Amino acid sequence: MRSDRIITTAAMAVVLAMGCQPAAGAQRSVQLGRQVAEDVCSACHVVSDDQVEPPILNPPAPSFPLIASRKGLTERSIRAFVLDHRRKVRTGDMPDPMITDAQGIDVSRYLMSLRKKAPN
Ligand code: HEC
Repeated sequence: MRSDRIITTAAMAVVLAMGCQPAAGAQRSVQLGRQVAEDVCSACHVVSDDQVEPPILNPPAPSFPLIASRKGLTERSIRAFVLDHRRKVRTGDMPDPMITDAQGIDVSRYLMSLRKKAPN
């Protein structure tokens, strides 16, 4: 009886740990992504509704809330766009933001987190 209870408790702890870890990790990733967005992307994009300084780029690139509301957007598509360093840079194209792969993943997750709050 007693050992049953211990096993049940241990099993529940494992299930809880499995359920909570990825969620906590993803939340942290979104936070890091917001930091990347504020540090790197905000020079050209409005990256949140409460951005204090306007972008230096004039006119600015599409805002993150607008990008987040685009149809068919996925974390993968953002990541591909942002991390594809082989893109040819023509006038008006976004230059290589020179971030790491991990930062690219984080900032893609941050952008996707804005999508949930977007009206459509
Ligand atoms: C030096 C200016 C500049 C910086 C810095 C910059 N961007 Fe951009 N970005 C642009 C411009 C200009 C465009 C629009 C032209 C294009 O699509 O290439 C754009 C377009 C985009 C798009 C596609 C938007 C669409 O229309 O769907 C995404 C996604 C994006 N940027 C994400 C980022 C992220 C994430 C960062 C930071 C890691 C970043 N950008 C940093 C200038 C910049």
